[in-house]
Amino acid sequence: MARIRSTFVCQSCGNQSPKWLGRCPGCGAWESLVEERSTPERHTSASFSGLREAAKAVPLRDVAMSAGTRWKLGMSELDRVLGGGLVPGAMILVSGDPGVGKSTLLTQVGRYIGTKTLLYVTGEESPRQVRLRAERLGVDSDRVHLLHATQMEEIAEAVRTVAPDIIIVDSIQTLHRADVESAPGSVSQVRECASALQQIAKGQERVVFIIGHVTKQGVVAGPRVLEHLVDTVLYLEGDRFHEYRVLRAVKNRFGSTHEMGVFEMRADGLHEVGNPSALFLRERQASASGAVVACSMEGTRPILVEVQALVTPTSYATPQRTATGVDGKRMQMILAVIEKRIGIRLSGMDVFVNIAGGLRLDDPSLDLAVAAAIVSSVKDHAVDEGTTIMGEVGLGGEIRSISNLEQRLKEVGKLGFQKAMVPARHVDEMLPPSALKIVPISTLAEAFKTMGWK
Ligand code: TYD
Ligand code: MG
Repeated sequence: MARIRSTFVCQSCGNQSPKWLGRCPGCGAWESLVEERSTPERHTSASFSGLREAAKAVPLRDVAMSAGTRWKLGMSELDRVLGGGLVPGAMILVSGDPGVGKSTLLTQVGRYIGTKTLLYVTGEESPRQVRLRAERLGVDSDRVHLLHATQMEEIAEAVRTVAPDIIIVDSIQTLHRADVESAPGSVSQVRECASALQQIAKGQERVVFIIGHVTKQGVVAGPRVLEHLVDTVLYLEGDRFHEYRVLRAVKNRFGSTHEMGVFEMRADGLHEVGNPSALFLRERQASASGAVVACSMEGTRPILVEVQALVTPTSYATPQRTATGVDGKRMQMILAVIEKRIGIRLSGMDVFVNIAGGLRLDDPSLDLAVAAAIVSSVKDHAVDEGTTIMGEVGLGGEIRSISNLEQRLKEVGKLGFQKAMVPARHVDEMLPPSALKIVPISTLAEAFKTMGWK
């Protein structure tokens, strides 16, 4: 008879304690510790080890490499975010708010599997619901198998019989292992189920996608615990009011974390957006003051966005500073530079800065556009609508150079802009000939003078 040991586990960070505490010493969360029982033997878990070959040390040179180390799905936005396709043996966590489209995205993978076999495990929806969705999404392959289960042991059994190349688990919070005595969704269950899935993935070179919900309170084990276990963490973002969704990698053992995939949610599923710049500039108002088009580098792809600012006299003792889509501290710095170097008083003004469309960006090349949008709003002068502005702003008011200028200018030209203000340092560079008029800028003051605002 196994001795049952009781531990108290923080449901937000996974920290363990032998006794109950009001506050987690690990993450500082209040009342987050929950009693979980476990039998010490569970680590020997025979039922999953059968899925994995015995470990043996081999010389690095002798490690077998399959010919095509990556499986390109052909779903280009997903391939891009994964760093060029799926790596066999990888565990990928797909996380995001409820209803954002995680199940939709992964069901759509079924359209691209070719000769591979897919096992879709659902503990959340009925098989009928999944079938209905799959039909709507045009997934129609007898290589797609569906398993309605929440028991890890049942999944292992299905993996043995179906021998899938790709496994999708929807969602990790619904799974549980019989040998772990806590509720589905608790930290112990999530961690133990994930490690069983890891054995399934690594042993047989299968790709496992895990869907994980994020909750505000951390009542259900947040994917935080999982992030350490998996190879790749993808976040699907977007809100109810916009139909587009952005997929980003926040961790990737097999590629860069700067890539971003853009999709549009329609009645028949997520559609890839090949040209995000056009999407984000779609609702631009011509000749409005406080709006500037900038170019942000997201991984290997330049994306044009509209930076908006609104500056109005405040009616409070402390003026409001609101940044949406750009870093608030960065905006504060730009405001200080404008005050000090240009001499525009902003202390009695409320300042709102926003990236149109709800994107979140952290490319420093947006600085100059943010500054221009703010001053444009203060002076109520619009920036010429055929102009894009890019450059990093230094504390001295100098405009610093930016990365990948050539690629950015290509995108700017492609979208029909006539003029680009760029850091003067780049002027010596060999830029490809184009119809675009390049305006070199070396200081903030010079930028505003060029626009005729002084
Ligand atoms: P879903 O993938 O179920 O979200 P998640 O798994 O992240 O909770 O998608 C939820 C929303 O997407 C739902 O509100 C309906 C919408 N949707 C579409 O607009 N078109 C579609 O083809 C599908 C399948 C869903
Ligand atoms: Mg879902």
